[in-house]
Amino acid sequence: MKRLTIAIDGFSSGGKSTLARTIAARLGYVFVDSGAMYRAVTLYALRHGFVREGALDEAALIAAMDEMGVGFRFDSESGTSRVLLDGEDVSGAIRTIEVSDLVSRVSSIGAVREKLVAAQREMGRGGGVVMDGRDIGTVVFPDADLKIFLTADPLVRARRRYDELRAGGVDVSLAEIERNIRERDLLDQTREISPLRQAPDAIVIDNSDMTPQEQMERVMELVNSKR
Ligand code: DC
Repeated sequence: MKRLTIAIDGFSSGGKSTLARTIAARLGYVFVDSGAMYRAVTLYALRHGFVREGALDEAALIAAMDEMGVGFRFDSESGTSRVLLDGEDVSGAIRTIEVSDLVSRVSSIGAVREKLVAAQREMGRGGGVVMDGRDIGTVVFPDADLKIFLTADPLVRARRRYDELRAGGVDVSLAEIERNIRERDLLDQTREISPLRQAPDAIVIDNSDMTPQEQMERVMELVNSKR
């Protein structure tokens, strides 16, 4: 059976990674969370002192891109894909507020995007990959076999993120999260390089009223129609 290249793009906190991971596991494909790669580069910048008094030394970061090792390792014990930075498992470290606050800035740098897009294309060579992000169907794999554009009402996304953070013991208000989500939507869509937009041939799934199971079934129907 043909091993497909599947692109899942959409807004932040829309459930892209969860969906992509489930589909990849179901099909025995490689799962790539491209956002995690932008986060790993951001962590590198923070750790190497490229951010001083809130200002990012863009030139230093660009110069370091060639020696930086960003990748993934599948951990069969937990069944999860771990994010590596220079060989170290940084899966937890890339989810801090500090990284989240800086990652939009880092992902707007053309030279950073060029390097990561090249690495993502390499990971997807030969198919059998599910990659989620913002520009996967438009830039990374414009010829993907299946493109999904995942969307949900901003309020629904804010509520999900709020529940997730509260469950993890983080004290935040729903209004604060909603504001952050709307701000990130705007940044993602208005960024000069590779802004988030729906590929003309992407299939839109609005998951505001869908369970993860329903989303998975809908995507599997589409996958089967392509194979
Ligand atoms: O999906 P996420 O929230 O972990 O993504 C982190 C950041 O990286 C977010 O600001 C958008 C950016 N990103 C990007 O520009 N291109 C991608 N393909 C994936 C993520």
